[in-house]
Amino acid sequence: MTLDTLSARAASASLPFGALAAQPADALLSLIALYRADDRPQKIDLGVGVFRNDAGDTPVMRAVKAAEAVLLETQVTKSYLGAEGDAAYTALLAGIVFGDRTAGERLNGVQTPGGTGALRLGAELVARANREARVWIGTPTWPNHAPIFAEAGLSTRSHRFYDAVSGRIDFDAMLNDLAEARAGDILLLHGCCHNPTGSAFTPEQWLAVSDLCAARGLIPFIDLAYQGLGDGLAEDAAATRMIVDALPAALVAYSGDKNFGLYRERVGALWALSANGAIAERVRTNMLSLARSLWSMPPDHGAAIVRTILENDALRADWRDELDAMRARLNGLRAALAAMHSRLAPIADQRGMFAMLPLTHEAVAALREEHGIYMAGNGRINIAGLRADTVAVFAQALRPHLHAGEGGP
Ligand code: LMR
Repeated sequence: MTLDTLSARAASASLPFGALAAQPADALLSLIALYRADDRPQKIDLGVGVFRNDAGDTPVMRAVKAAEAVLLETQVTKSYLGAEGDAAYTALLAGIVFGDRTAGERLNGVQTPGGTGALRLGAELVARANREARVWIGTPTWPNHAPIFAEAGLSTRSHRFYDAVSGRIDFDAMLNDLAEARAGDILLLHGCCHNPTGSAFTPEQWLAVSDLCAARGLIPFIDLAYQGLGDGLAEDAAATRMIVDALPAALVAYSGDKNFGLYRERVGALWALSANGAIAERVRTNMLSLARSLWSMPPDHGAAIVRTILENDALRADWRDELDAMRARLNGLRAALAAMHSRLAPIADQRGMFAMLPLTHEAVAALREEHGIYMAGNGRINIAGLRADTVAVFAQALRPHLHAGEGGP
């Protein structure tokens, strides 16, 4: 190294920000630009998790458009609301998530900027309450999960739960790994429609998870980001409701970005369940003070749309109808893809937007380069990126990359 380079380094390190190391671009979000830059007409986008219709579009939902028209007519101010955001939105959404449960004064919710904001606020709350808490995260998971908890100063541990070869849950492996969890640790769970695997615990396994948390003093932190896109609104919330009924403490991070199609509007909420009303009140004040320092108050427009839909019977019914059709499309595509090859068979039983294919990184790159098929590096596909007429094309391109000797029909 020359003297010049050394002194240039020393000078830049002493400058503000000179000590920062460059960070890689987010691999998932980078797929958006990569796909856009590909000019092959037959390209297929199975990357970032947004719903698409059979024309390949991510339309604004009908009820959302109607609610925006109502807001345009009736909204008289955009003045500040406060750190809790739109309380009527959070209360109406609680009905969708928790049904008629009245955990009452034990359950507190605040509006957050998307599910990511909810996860981050929950992580900060945990860190403020108990910096020694470790966060147990099943692998694979959404790549943003561990960074969110790490940035809040918490240490993370991974546990197994999924067998990539069979495409099924490996519950024994999960219980084995969680034997090391200690009281006060957090157990991150996907409430439904697991991202990236689409796999789901059976109701019996959910009960066992709840029993484990109760017996060992673990706090479940449920990430519920795809309610209604698996088996139905109530069905997809069943595990969350069971946990709220059974345990003294839990956190629920909610995203309405996908089931209301409001992605860029950042629609979310965080609920905290506490052992009693007195603790719940302290939790509430802490959630508000943390939110104040993180984002002061959440963006209003998306939440105002959701509130407008949920407080109007006709809009609510239309939203549910469109959500039902979205779910039917996903599950229809699942069945069609699963029938194409025996290695794809588990996809029929999985739910939500995603499936993880047994592909190497090289195979993922080859599919992109040779066929213009875009998916996450771990083999995760967004089912909604398929269309009735591309399922067979996709399966044909996949065939040489699925393990030999296990060919399908
Ligand atoms: C995804 O997993 O594709 C979505 O949740 C988008 C994101 O923010 O990563």
